[in-house]
Amino acid sequence: MSLYLPETTVCNGETFEVFITKDQIEARLDLLGKQIDKEFAGKKPILIGVLNGSFIFLADLMRNITIPCEVDFMKLSSYGDEKVSSGEVTELKHIDAKLKGRHVILVEDIIDTGLSMKYMIEKMESLEPESVKVVTLLHKKDATLHDVQIDYVGFEIPTKFVLGYGLDYAQEGRNLAQIYILKDDK
Ligand code: IMP
Ligand code: MG
Repeated sequence: MSLYLPETTVCNGETFEVFITKDQIEARLDLLGKQIDKEFAGKKPILIGVLNGSFIFLADLMRNITIPCEVDFMKLSSYGDEKVSSGEVTELKHIDAKLKGRHVILVEDIIDTGLSMKYMIEKMESLEPESVKVVTLLHKKDATLHDVQIDYVGFEIPTKFVLGYGLDYAQEGRNLAQIYILKDDK
């Protein structure tokens, strides 16, 4: 495989540099997978990815899990094409799977203000799963305004705009194979 791993990249006219490397991501996902294996042993969790941003993280996380598990997706939109949240959550794709009685793991790329995750967790209440856990690759702890439960975190990061590994800037940059941060904004 020839992954896209530049040192710096220009996205929508702004320069980004490497912040979390492919090796760091792989090492963290190895541990997260082992933790989920252990905590869900004997159960068959269903991973619910929040589209679009989580698709790469979810695909890699799932391949680090060895117990039986399933996957489904839900699509939310709160950002538009800007670098700051619009403050509104719109559901663009519903969950197809029946979640009643299931062990659900919500998979996010990043928790920023926490608004999207708050929406997801509230949504779960009506779907009656047996249990709900939350895993996020990135957490901007200082930016989180909504009190949301987070069970597994890949990396705590500062309140800066990041890109790559599924995360976009106005829909671009998702194909970068590691995580980048706005240059001179570290
Ligand atoms: P929240 O609802 O404010 O927590 O925002 C969560 C969503 O905003 C994430 O699922 C991402 O899609 C997007 N987001 C937040 N911060 C960033 C960032 O730094 N880069 C790219 N997308 C981001
Ligand atoms: Mg997202």
